[in-house]
Amino acid sequence: MAAIGTDIDKAVKLLTNDELVAIPTETVYGLAGNALSSIAVTKIFSVKNRPQFDPLIVHVPDLEKAKEYVLEIPEAAKKLADKFWPGPLTLLLKKKAIIPDLVTSGLDTVGIRCPDHSLTTQLLKELPFPLAAPSANPFGYVSPTKPQHVDEQLGNKIQYILDGGACPVGIESTIVGFEDDKPVVYRLGGLSLEDIEATIGIVRLMTHSSSNPKAPGQLKSHYAPGKKLILGSIEDLLTITTVKAAVLSFQKDFQVSNQIILSPSGKVEEAAQILFEALRAFDKMDVEVVLTELVPDQGLGRAINDRLRRAAAV
Ligand code: TXA
Ligand code: MG
Repeated sequence: MAAIGTDIDKAVKLLTNDELVAIPTETVYGLAGNALSSIAVTKIFSVKNRPQFDPLIVHVPDLEKAKEYVLEIPEAAKKLADKFWPGPLTLLLKKKAIIPDLVTSGLDTVGIRCPDHSLTTQLLKELPFPLAAPSANPFGYVSPTKPQHVDEQLGNKIQYILDGGACPVGIESTIVGFEDDKPVVYRLGGLSLEDIEATIGIVRLMTHSSSNPKAPGQLKSHYAPGKKLILGSIEDLLTITTVKAAVLSFQKDFQVSNQIILSPSGKVEEAAQILFEALRAFDKMDVEVVLTELVPDQGLGRAINDRLRRAAAV
């Protein structure tokens, strides 16, 4: 088990010694290490059991710091950063040589983001280096949104989890890159497409790529929980399912015993916040399958539906 607490000095000491610390962000918990140290970055890949072709996001306290690690910031990227940082937005920008190739899996861009969480902002401001941090889960599994989720899966491999409570957004950052300075969304996430388009106009969506993905988070069966998820009309699925089933619904109460309702009041933000914890909870229930449905495809609902589809893909 790892120690769980709010001791920033302890986190600073560990990180300075190339050790890893789990950190809270507004989206999900990250498994953080010194982004400029090959030793620390190698530990991140090994603790997560993550293939080295899957690049890491680099976390900075503000846009000024980001400039130290990237060659250029396209106009649209600057507009987005000005408006949404700190916040659930990762920008793919041309990297400077100071960012090790290991971090970007050899790509010439680096995913960079300024998280919105007071403990982590304080930590980033005290450190003389940025933090590489993927979600703090074993590769391919659901991201953690509470310190206990990290402890259950990685607690025997890291020493310290910085406790920032439950992540308020609950779903990973939206990833935006640029091709010929034109914005492309590679991962739907905690910043809605509507908010992005209201700021920089229509953007291209490239979130599905089953062969040779640009971001492995694009792989169809990623973010997979332990239980088999079946996506459709819960009402119909309940009548034809013959094995012991749980229900994950958006708003409706289906009056079955193993059931989680994402948002009784029908808010996608509320649903996003508890989605990953719900998926984890089913893993501990005595059921064979989870019957679930898509949520309204707007705002954070798009990111939720993306994760549900991937979790249900076999
Ligand atoms: O909300 C988040 O983004 C969380 C918190 C901890 O910040 N982090 C996170 O990291 O979700 P991770 O590693 O689980 O997912 C990052 C995704 C991966 O699918 C990776 O392939 C993609 O970002 N990525 C990172 N750098 C990239 C790059 N230069 N080009 C393309 N994709 C990149
Ligand atoms: Mg991840």
